Amino acid sequence: MKDDLRDHAPGLERAFACPPAENDYRIDVVEGKVPSYVRGTYYVIGPARFARGGLRYRHWLDGDGLACALHLGEDGARFVSRYVRGTKLITEEARCRPVFRTFGTAFPGDRLKRGMGLESPLNVSLYPWQGSLLAFGEQGLPWALDPITLDSRGEHDFGGRLNAVSPFAAHPSFDPESGEMVNFGVSFAPSSPSLTLYHVAPEGAVRRRRVRLEHPASIHDFALTRRYAVFYVSPYLLDLPAVTEGGLPLLEALRWRPELGSRLLVVERRSGEVKADLDVGRGYCLHVIGAFEDRRRLVIDVVELDRPVYDQYAVPQLFPEPQEAEPARYVVAVEASRILERRAFDYRLLCDFPHHDPRCWGEDYRHFWMLGIGASRRPGRKFFDQLVHGDWHLGRPADVYRTPEDVYLGGEPAFVADPTGTGAGAVLCPAYDARRHASSILVFDAFDVGRGPLATVPLKAPIPPLFHATFKAEG
Ligand SMILES: [Fe+2]
Repeated sequence: MKDDLRDHAPGLERAFACPPAENDYRIDVVEGKVPSYVRGTYYVIGPARFARGGLRYRHWLDGDGLACALHLGEDGARFVSRYVRGTKLITEEARCRPVFRTFGTAFPGDRLKRGMGLESPLNVSLYPWQGSLLAFGEQGLPWALDPITLDSRGEHDFGGRLNAVSPFAAHPSFDPESGEMVNFGVSFAPSSPSLTLYHVAPEGAVRRRRVRLEHPASIHDFALTRRYAVFYVSPYLLDLPAVTEGGLPLLEALRWRPELGSRLLVVERRSGEVKADLDVGRGYCLHVIGAFEDRRRLVIDVVELDRPVYDQYAVPQLFPEPQEAEPARYVVAVEASRILERRAFDYRLLCDFPHHDPRCWGEDYRHFWMLGIGASRRPGRKFFDQLVHGDWHLGRPADVYRTPEDVYLGGEPAFVADPTGTGAGAVLCPAYDARRHASSILVFDAFDVGRGPLATVPLKAPIPPLFHATFKAEG
């Protein structure tokens, strides 16, 4: 086979072939040593079941959400996994067949939620909130899970303040000073596209602000600072009637229109007023790395891609085309409505799932972690095989862990700080070994990932590569 047609992720299909069983077990033997301060639960979620009733789903976003928890405590390690039992899964299990259209797959007779959107497979992200763990899909209300057993408690409508058609994205932010959950949702109505910004108080009150959008743009993530909500709005537009009337899956109704340009939208949290609307070229942003205010400047860090990535999510032929990305830091003078600087970070391979120390919320921060793909620039299937420790002071990775052959990283790396204030930290990240058809959770020294994992926590049954993660410290 010619080198440029190589499969750079051999065996990856095995991870997606069979839906993993639900599990709850102790892990008695850990290879290496987990630092003693890593006490708590690493939660990770992602799409895991890609077939039902003879239908094979085509897209990574299509699978039913599997929530996983690795608990690390004084008495050892315990792993729990449960499918999120939302409306889609319950309905389809009862009928033993697929019922709802998904992000990438349409089929004859498929249904939409109230004829307006997708019934969410609840497979993107999870966050602790008010005694529950909330599992989010790409849009729609989250589902509440028991944080220990991961059993589904039901749809979380914030005490009836939101409803099943409220647009609600998969990446809320949490303001540790006010205790609020802040989130957004996009309404794609072609005549009046808009964005709703929500502030949910700890006791449940919801404040909404509506922001007009120029186009019905797909927005996946945003950044939050003390005063602002910041949106990188890429010209990746959803033709909603093509879904609701034309029968297309969302993927085929999304249009990349780079000639329209990308905007950085700075919205004042309190008023919902747009304080700056800035030209940032033609890039695409799926995930934000972080943001903070520094005197009169706003700093926002993003992973900027050369184009959208969802068309590279065919399962199991992921990332077949060459693609590049670049973390970038934008420094904005909000009052002058001007970008002062765009500082590029020297890592141009396709990268995603950025994460930084959540204790740094609202403040200047130096370190972040993300996954990268070594063969990004080459055609042929590929997958995440690098864990990158980024350092904004250096403007490049401080160190990089590269997996052994046929081992892939699947899931957001989550940072765990040493609570005694030594400055030490660990990063946890799941790995899948295609040769052994086995999964593990790797534990790294956050500031020396290049030396390889300090500990490997083996799972008794494999899990597919998953999406977003969070670590909840004990106590
Ligand atoms: Fe995401």
